[in-house]
Amino acid sequence: TRRHTVLIDVDTFNSQRKFLPTKGRDLWHSDFVKMPCSQSANQKSKWDVISKKLKSLASKKTVSVKDVEEAIIKYNPKYKDQWSFDALHTFNKNIPDTENYFKTLFPKIAALALKLPDFVNKAIPLLRKGQSATITLSQVQISCLLANAFFCTFPHRNTSNPTAEYAGYPTINFNSLFGNWSERKREKLRAIMHYFKEVTDESTRPKGLVTFHRECLSYTDMPTWESCKENLSKLHITSEGQIELEGKGMLQVDFANSLIGGGVLGSGLLQEEILFLINPELIVARLFTEKLEDNECLIITGSQQFSSYSGFGDSFEWAGPYEDQSERDQWARRKTQILAIDAMNFRHCMDQYKRRHINRELNKAYCGFKGYDGHEKPDIATGKWGCGAFNGDPQLKALIQLMAAAKAKRGLAFFTFGDEYLKQSLQHIYELMFTEGITVGTLYKLLCEFSSAKHRDSDVDLFDFIKKNIRNSKSHL
Ligand code: APR
Repeated sequence: TRRHTVLIDVDTFNSQRKFLPTKGRDLWHSDFVKMPCSQSANQKSKWDVISKKLKSLASKKTVSVKDVEEAIIKYNPKYKDQWSFDALHTFNKNIPDTENYFKTLFPKIAALALKLPDFVNKAIPLLRKGQSATITLSQVQISCLLANAFFCTFPHRNTSNPTAEYAGYPTINFNSLFGNWSERKREKLRAIMHYFKEVTDESTRPKGLVTFHRECLSYTDMPTWESCKENLSKLHITSEGQIELEGKGMLQVDFANSLIGGGVLGSGLLQEEILFLINPELIVARLFTEKLEDNECLIITGSQQFSSYSGFGDSFEWAGPYEDQSERDQWARRKTQILAIDAMNFRHCMDQYKRRHINRELNKAYCGFKGYDGHEKPDIATGKWGCGAFNGDPQLKALIQLMAAAKAKRGLAFFTFGDEYLKQSLQHIYELMFTEGITVGTLYKLLCEFSSAKHRDSDVDLFDFIKKNIRNSKSHL
């Protein structure tokens, strides 16, 4: 069963209304996102308090960080002693006057947040585990939802208690972004504030749509990898450039966390968090996307890049506005497709060579690469997925992604992110396998043999192993 929910008011999509809760039903039904303005009896009054506070901020010409803090705590009194706003305060003091437009921006963000009942007047379904489903929102709706996240108006999510209602969901309120000052926080806040500056300004307000699709690969659709007859697809390898820049127009892989966005609202600043900071609309996925299971992925079509950046981790810097000129479809939706797939986090490096883990990663990549519902299937832009924070072996991950791409009949652009050695060794092994006409199934069997060899001798190198065994494999397998 597939659901496709379009939350914008467009007549052609009216047939989708059947997915909305029937009149009179409590909108805080468990299949839908709990909104700060949902109409259940006790929450109505919460929105009254929130909207009163936001109205008072929105009516001012300038608002200080202290005012923002005071408002947020007013309707979140429980967190008075837990939430810190020191990063927001320091940020405000730390930023050069020429870039400090925040005092006049805060009232605009508050005004945008207040529009929630008008802009998002239908319930947003949750993208639950175990089900493929799609949500389409306008960029304006997303900006309004994020303005609410900024002002921490969403009901608090208790992620540390496994039995709590939103235990399987990422957090959405921005409170964790406002505390624990660090240089990282400064650069993150610069990117976030720039986003709000653009979306609250009439002349730069975005006009398109963004679609969030959760794909769940059923067990019957999982390939039997050892019998796949496909030949390898074309592969372009480069050590220069980044997925999100040079990979424009391709399916761009987000090296994701199973809780989408990972540490974007905390202090994380790796590939996924950076992607979410330069495309802040991706953050809204945290509102409704339950933790990804092994056979699931999230594909986001149409998000806009607002910022440029340089660096990675501690060296990350916001580098100014970005004009996103991506091509659009008939709904003014950018054709940009971002694929969030979470690799396994290997605390013990040897674990990744276990056959069941190789299968898990193959199916995860394939779930994302295979495409859905007749969507266009551009080539894939990826790289060392799972090989940074998650400790994966770049050689193994490159071959796994190559196999999944071949099965999905898509080309692959592989960005080694400055790793010259990987670029050359992967190029070499690819040419060898291509010349030998190796199929996905044969390569899979080689990986299984390698898995056993690696467990006998942990020093065996995957590419060396393939070089030695490729001829035999074709005649024996
Ligand atoms: N383009 C191409 N390659 C990149 C880019 C980029 N923009 N950014 C980073 N890389 C390369 C780097 O070499 C990096 O070490 O990809 C490697 C892996 O990146 P990680 O972000 O560490 O990915 P992963 O190991 O999958 O860790 C995922 O980190 O960001 C969090 O939320 C995410 O928890 C998840 C975890």
